[in-house]
Amino acid sequence: MMQRNVGVVFGGVSPEHEVSIISALQAAAALDRARYRPVPIYIAKDGVWYTGDDRLLDPAAYRDLDRIRREATPVMLDPRSYRTLELVAAGGRRFARPARWSVDVLLLGLHGGPGENGGLQGLCEAFNVPYTGSGILGSALGMDKVLSKMLCRDQQIPIVDFVAFRESDWGYHEEAWLDRCEQELGYPVVVKPARLGSSIGISRAADRAALDAAIEEALRYDEKVVVERAVTALREINCSVLGDVHEAIPSVLEEPVRSAGQELLSFREKYLRGGGADGGKHARRPAKQPAGAEGMASLDRVIPAPLPPEKTAEIQALGVRIFQLFECSGVARIDFLMDGTTGQVYFNEINTIPGSFSFYLWEPTGVSFTDLTHRLIDLALKQHHDKNGRVRTYDVNLLSERSLQGLKGAKQRAG
Ligand SMILES: Nc1ncnc2c1ncn2[C@@H]1O[C@H](COP(=O)(O)OP(=O)(O)O)[C@@H](O)[C@H]1O
Ligand SMILES: [Mg+2]
Repeated sequence: MMQRNVGVVFGGVSPEHEVSIISALQAAAALDRARYRPVPIYIAKDGVWYTGDDRLLDPAAYRDLDRIRREATPVMLDPRSYRTLELVAAGGRRFARPARWSVDVLLLGLHGGPGENGGLQGLCEAFNVPYTGSGILGSALGMDKVLSKMLCRDQQIPIVDFVAFRESDWGYHEEAWLDRCEQELGYPVVVKPARLGSSIGISRAADRAALDAAIEEALRYDEKVVVERAVTALREINCSVLGDVHEAIPSVLEEPVRSAGQELLSFREKYLRGGGADGGKHARRPAKQPAGAEGMASLDRVIPAPLPPEKTAEIQALGVRIFQLFECSGVARIDFLMDGTTGQVYFNEINTIPGSFSFYLWEPTGVSFTDLTHRLIDLALKQHHDKNGRVRTYDVNLLSERSLQGLKGAKQRAG
């Protein structure tokens, strides 16, 4: 069997840099080595791309990010084959690779920023190289909490009431926006940067002064902000979905558990609970992973979420519907907010590159992390194959002499 080179892309210019390192290296470790050879592609915080030998596949190497930048090999991207991507070494380093390295498919493991919002997906499209996960549209829509809600609202999928605005609207009209939030939403509210993740920049507010401060805080991260009515007696229920627009299946549901007294799931709770290095109490990691590399898998959670079967089925069906509505591919995780008193479920957000690729929600359904990576790569190759099988260019050169005779107006104007 042909062994494919899988470029595993991670890091990135995003506050979720370290989380991405964990997610991607977990996936790299899960790859079936008989079929795939992982090629680490690390994007440093300053945006420079690096590769190197297998030492770059070990999460422990990233305890010292400066050392990686000194010792890994910076690379340039050469899309010359227009189907594969060539990584060209820009200077020899210690973690050396051959000077040129060809990658057949990219496994995108970035969270937040241009790695998840369609930016990198666009680069892959332009280079015509297969890549895992959602395309430009799904990635971009999924990253925007405001447009996501609008899209769901259009399809009668329940969402919480919200008010959204930009920094340019907010300046000089602060009191008017605060009034509007109070009138339309009341208190408490949750304030979020529109296009971030991992709870960064998110806070709750129960009065006007706190709302003002929460908006200013969110604006540090994004120029677009969303203020939402806070769901009371909150239960959070997440569903992963795997597939594409033609066929998609839901995972079991998870219910993340917040520590006593915590009203929202913070960055710290998501990734650093239980002291970080040792992971949380209920840490689950793939067999090949060392401790300290759990990522999203370290969060305390109940799997499957303790819900009546009808509720589970309702949320799974919504998850699949939303995944396909956003034209997602690969694996995504759709997060819901549930009012614990009424049982009402609201769409909260879709993560198009979920932490740890949601492997822990697939294992209970009999899909191992290795199977999951396999499915992701297969879907990437299938989509790439489909796209390349359609008409993309014409062989006729409209600017050739003969063609120009047919384009009279053009010829005259061309002189
Ligand atoms: N409308 C809301 N009501 C109550 N809690 C919320 C609401 N929206 C978000 N939260 C809390 O804040 C956390 C982070 O918000 P979320 O929209 O999931 O952003 P992120 O993309 O950063 O994960 C959620 O996991 C939940 O604990
Ligand atoms: Mg979330």
